[in-house]
Amino acid sequence: MNIRRLKLTAAIVFVFAMVGSVAFRSVVPDASAETLIPVVVVADDTATIYKTKCAMCHAPKATKAFDLEKSDEHHVNAILKGAKAEKPPHMPEYETKGIDAEKAQALVTYMRSLRAAAE
Ligand code: HEC
Repeated sequence: MNIRRLKLTAAIVFVFAMVGSVAFRSVVPDASAETLIPVVVVADDTATIYKTKCAMCHAPKATKAFDLEKSDEHHVNAILKGAKAEKPPHMPEYETKGIDAEKAQALVTYMRSLRAAAE
């Protein structure tokens, strides 16, 4: 009788341990999913877009091929539709690459701030 009770207790403990470990395991992927969210947000950030897609041609401080005298409207249009330089490489069009007018305006504002900090 005592041994039976012991076995039963052992079985119950075992079941609880299993449930516990499953519950714990289901918490871990949740935690890693949460840490993924900021990565996605950062990838969409204006500064990151500039650094990864634009800085190679316009320089880290937007000192190349960016005329401060021209209007925001002109610059937004150049980002959306592209622009031809005197010789290649030309300015690609970004409208078809996931940059809308709002993002383009944010990029222009960011480029102006980089340039102001550089001068
Ligand atoms: C392959 C090189 C290249 C890349 C990459 C590039 N650009 Fe350009 N960009 C140019 C060239 C060349 C021009 C044309 C300059 C001119 O009018 O002579 C230009 C023009 C512009 C203009 C208008 C500047 C002016 O004074 O008329 C803006 C604004 C601009 N780019 C922003 C960006 C942004 C924002 C990105 C990234 C999303 C980007 N560019 C990526 C080469 C590039």
